[in-house]
Amino acid sequence: MIKQWQAVDDYIAGRLIARPEQQHETLDANRRSGLPAIDVSAPQGKLLHILSRALRARRILEIGTLGGFSTIWLARALEPGGKVVTVEFDPRHAEVARANIAREGLTDRVDLRVGAALDILPKIEAEGAGPFDLSFIDADKANNAAYFNWALKMSRPGALIIVDNVVRDGAVADPSTKEDSALGARTLFDAVADESRVTATAIQTVGSKGWDGFLIAMVK
Ligand code: SAH
Ligand code: DHB
Ligand code: MG
Repeated sequence: MIKQWQAVDDYIAGRLIARPEQQHETLDANRRSGLPAIDVSAPQGKLLHILSRALRARRILEIGTLGGFSTIWLARALEPGGKVVTVEFDPRHAEVARANIAREGLTDRVDLRVGAALDILPKIEAEGAGPFDLSFIDADKANNAAYFNWALKMSRPGALIIVDNVVRDGAVADPSTKEDSALGARTLFDAVADESRVTATAIQTVGSKGWDGFLIAMVK
């Protein structure tokens, strides 16, 4: 199936996503630097972009930058004067991201922080960088519930919190799974289910990144 899913993603991108929007240079640079090809797909990146624009986002929080592919989609959606604050643990990834963001002319719209998100999120809060209009959580999956709680703490009413990779080939609903990412997703679902300050759903996706999904929570 993945071949057909890939073909349909290519079709969607070919019809609806302009060539310069697709960031071929970013993906090439990531490949040359040996980064894992685990960025969101182009149709998914555009979804994040459209949601950010619909919210007229000025402040966006991202956890897990990698080479900046999703960061660039988000930064291009900002209202004038807006900022994406993005957190990346691996200095090698951050260096590649910084160059990609600069090539796109977005350096002044991206605040890239290098370190473990659980160390950096309290600093972001203390600086008053929020409240955020949209948060995109896409880092180490075991900490998803903790990241969700930080994002919630720094969100404005009406904000969206979007979490990537919450389905993992269906493992999230497989009681026998031992996969860390699926267990992390389940802990996240439990936290969101118990949180009365948000209303939420999750959407399964297939495409060039296989079978996975996004959780989308709206802050009341
Ligand atoms: N959002 C990116 C993909 C992120 S991949 C995109 O779609 O283009 C996940 C990233 O999270 C990796 O670069 C990894 O180094 C980073 N990461 C892992 N653990 C982390 C942590 N504790 N804090 C911050 N980033 C982390
Ligand atoms: C992995 C991480 C991701 O963020 C993703 O979108 C796909 C895979 C991973 O760590 O395997
Ligand atoms: Mg991901």
